[in-house]
Order: sequence, then structure tokens, then C-alpha cells
Amino acid sequence: MSGLFITIEGTDGAGKTTQIGLLEKYLTDKGFKVVCTREPGGTPISEKIREIIIDRNNAEMTDITEALLYAAARAQHTSEVILPTLNDGGVVISDRYLDSSIVYQGFARGMGEKLIKSINKYAVGELEPDITFLLRLKPEDGILRKEKQSELDRIEMEKAGFHQRVYDGYIRLSKRYKDRIKVIDALGSVEEIHSRIAAYIDELIANSSI
Ligand code: TYD
Repeated sequence: MSGLFITIEGTDGAGKTTQIGLLEKYLTDKGFKVVCTREPGGTPISEKIREIIIDRNNAEMTDITEALLYAAARAQHTSEVILPTLNDGGVVISDRYLDSSIVYQGFARGMGEKLIKSINKYAVGELEPDITFLLRLKPEDGILRKEKQSELDRIEMEKAGFHQRVYDGYIRLSKRYKDRIKVIDALGSVEEIHSRIAAYIDELIANSSI
């Protein structure tokens, strides 16, 4: 595999979309073939699964159903979009990937990391991101603010304690996978955050075969 697999993670409302747009332009300008995608979603089948997952009417969804649906969406996304792009030498920028399931389902829902990893083995195989950016934003600066502004989806509607566990879970993962997960303070300006990300990317490209 000769491409580059970049993922962006963070609590809800951390500004991932803006940074993905800037990073896409940065890498395209350097001459790379870039595919931006997201989870849950990224393919027609996975987008349909996404609708089921985030639908506010699906209040009776069990934790295991939710975890399996995220993994199913990821399986399709990995084989239909991510692997072909990487095999073709391209760059994939994914808004969320497996770390989201470990943090949201494993830690915040309390299902445990082991179970989530074993379910997702079928979805991701040996694939791991080359680099992951964690946009760090405390729930009180992000999702709990959003709550006052707009209609929330099923996951966003969770109580403050859930979002705090998501935040703590991300910090825990980032400490364990220091080499892969780069923590960026999401309270910085859009330009500051972008230049920090770009610096990490330049370093990665200089040390890789892409
Ligand atoms: P997303 O569209 O990225 O939401 P946002 O733009 O608000 O960050 O993701 C939808 C929701 O799904 C989000 O609340 C995070 C959650 N999620 C999981 O719980 N597990 C997962 O594996 C993934 C990919 C997302």
C-alpha cells in the first residue's frame, strides 16, 4: 500500500470539517490525489446505515446494535473507498474512524475496548491510520454549546456525562498512541490549527515513501 491514511477525531463540534477542507486544499496543491470522506458514511450503503444510527426516533437501539452498525458502515467504507484509494497511491482524509468507536462505544457507552476492537477486526483488518489528529475541545466548549443552538442527532442528545467520557476517552487513547495521535487544541484560531496540522503532515511525507 503506497498511499497515506489520515484521520481526524474529536468530540462533537470541534471544527473537524473546516480543518479537513483546509488540509484537502493543502495536499491537493502539493499534487496529491486526495479523497475526503467521513464515518459513519463515505459510501451509499454506509450513508444509509448512518441515517439509521443517528435517527432521533431510534431511541430503543441497543448498544450492541449501535456498535455493529458503526462497524458495518466501516467495513463497506474501508473496502469500497479507503483501501482502493490507498492502493492507488492516493491520500485519504477521513472524518472519524475506528478510534471513534473505541471512544464512543467502548469507553463512553461502557462496552469495553476489547469487544469493540474484536467486532471491528472484521471491518478494518490490519488497516491503521498513518496519522490521526485529535481536535481537543472540552464538552462545555463544544457540544454543550451546540445543544442550545440547533437540533441534535441521537448521539449528540446524550447527557453531559457521556460527552465527558468521550473527551476523557480520547485523551486516554492519545496518551497510549502518542506516535500516531497528535493532539491539537481546538480553541486555537482556524489558521493556527491548520498550520500545526500541516507541519505534522510535512514531517510525515518527508519520512514516508508517498
Ligand atoms: P459526525 O457526523 O462526525 O458528528 P459531528 O460532526 O457532530 O462530529 O458523527 C456522528 C456521530 O456518531 C458523532 O456523535 C460521533 C458518533 N460516532 C460513534 O459513536 N462511533 C463511531 O464509530 C463513529 C464513526 C461516530
